[in-house]
Amino acid sequence: MACAGFLLLTLAVLNSIGSSQSEAFVKIHCKTQNVGQCEQESRLDCVIHYVEDIEDIEDVEIVVVIWRKEGVEEPVLKYTHGELTSLPGYSFAEPSWNNKNVNVSLLIHKTAVKDEGDYTCYVSTDSGYNTNHTRLNVTAKYGVPTIQPQPQDIDLNTDGSLTCRSTGYPKGRLSWFDKDNKPWLEQPEVEVLTTESGLFILSSTLNIQRGSAFSQYTCKVFNARGDEEAEKSFISGGSSQSHAESLHHIRASVEIHCKTQNVGQCDQESRLDCVIHYVEDLEDAEIVAIIWWKEGVEEPVLKYTHGELTSLPGYSFAEPSWNNKNVNVSLLIHKTAVKDEGDYTCDVSTDSGDNKNQTRLNVTGEL
Ligand SMILES: *[C@@H]1O[C@H](CO)[C@@H](O)[C@H](O)[C@H]1NC(C)=O
Ligand SMILES: *[C@@H]1O[C@H](CO)[C@@H](O)[C@H](O)[C@H]1NC(C)=O
Ligand SMILES: *[C@@H]1O[C@H](CO)[C@@H](O)[C@H](O)[C@H]1NC(C)=O
Repeated sequence: MACAGFLLLTLAVLNSIGSSQSEAFVKIHCKTQNVGQCEQESRLDCVIHYVEDIEDIEDVEIVVVIWRKEGVEEPVLKYTHGELTSLPGYSFAEPSWNNKNVNVSLLIHKTAVKDEGDYTCYVSTDSGYNTNHTRLNVTAKYGVPTIQPQPQDIDLNTDGSLTCRSTGYPKGRLSWFDKDNKPWLEQPEVEVLTTESGLFILSSTLNIQRGSAFSQYTCKVFNARGDEEAEKSFISGGSSQSHAESLHHIRASVEIHCKTQNVGQCDQESRLDCVIHYVEDLEDAEIVAIIWWKEGVEEPVLKYTHGELTSLPGYSFAEPSWNNKNVNVSLLIHKTAVKDEGDYTCDVSTDSGDNKNQTRLNVTGEL
C-alpha cells in the first residue's frame, strides 16, 4: 500500500513537471546548416531527444510534426493525428517513418534554388513539445564556360570580342587569363542574369583589338567561396602581337599530321595518332598548349596548358613521359567504349605558331 502511494505521488510530481515544463522533456537537435545541390536530394537533419528520464522512451508517441519553410504559408510537411500530408517533393527522410521514430528529418526530393532558406520543425509528443530551426543553402556547380567569339571567325586582322558564359548558384564570378595564365589587368564587368529556376548566368565580354590579340584566352569561373570551378580556353588562329602580321606564315610553320581514321576495339586501348611537323627547321620549338577535343563533349578530353596536364579519366598522351618538346601528341584511350567513337580535334599551340587537325575513331566490338 505504502509502495503504491509512493508511486502515485511520484507520478503526480512528474506530471506537474510535465505540464509546466513540457518543453524540457523534448529537444529537437537540428543540424544548423545544410547545403543542398540543385537537382539532387537534400536532407534537413532533425532528431528528437528526450532529455528527462522518461521511463519508457520507446513508448513516447509523436503526435504532431510540422515542417515549415519561411515564406511559405502552408507547412511543407505535416503529421497530425496519424495523418501525413506534404507539399509535392517533400517527405520524411526515413522511408517508413512512424510515430515512434525520433528521426524527423525532412527530405527535399529535387532541390531547387527556391528551396534555400530557413525551416522550422515543430514536434509534439505525449510527453511534451518543442520546436527548432535549420537552414538550407543551395548550390549549383558552375558548368564549363562557353566562349562565343564575335565575329564567329575572329582572327588577328579584325576587331572583335569573346563572350564567356557560365551558369550556377550562388553568385560567383568570371575572370579572364592570358596565355601565361596571368589575369587580365582590366577585367570586363560581369553581367548577371537569372534563369527561370533562379540560377545565375554570368557573362563577361572581352574586347580584342586588331593587332593586339594573343594566341589564347582563358575564362575561369569561380564559385561564391572563390574556388575555381571550371575554365575554358579559346585558342585563336594566330600567335602574339609581334607575329600578328605574319599570321599566314605562322600557321604554315606548324603542321599536325594525323592518321585520319583509327579503329579501336571495345575494352582495348585505342590510339589517335597525331604528330607535329615543323615545316622550317625550328629546333627548339616549345609546345605551349595542346587541347584534345571530342566532338559532343564539352570539356577537353586532354589538356596541356601552362605546363599543366589535365585529362578526363581514361585519356592520356600515348607517349608515357611526354614533354613539351615531344612532337608525338597522340591521344591514348585506355579502355575503348562505343561512346568513344567519333571525331576528335587536336589543337596545338607552340611558341612558333599554332594549328589544329582532326581525326576519327571508329569502334568495333568483338562478337
Ligand atoms: C536546436 O538545435 C540545436 C543544434 O542541434 C541544439 O543545440 C539546441 O539545443 C536545439 N534547441 C532546442 C530547443 O531543441
Ligand atoms: C535520419 O534518417 C535518414 C534517412 O534514413 C538518414 O540518412 C539520417 O542519417 C538520419 N539522421 C540521423 C541523425 O540519424
Ligand atoms: C548559407 O547562406 C547564408 C546566407 O547567404 C550565409 O550567411 C551562410 O554562411 C551560408 N552557410 C553555408 C554553410 O554556406
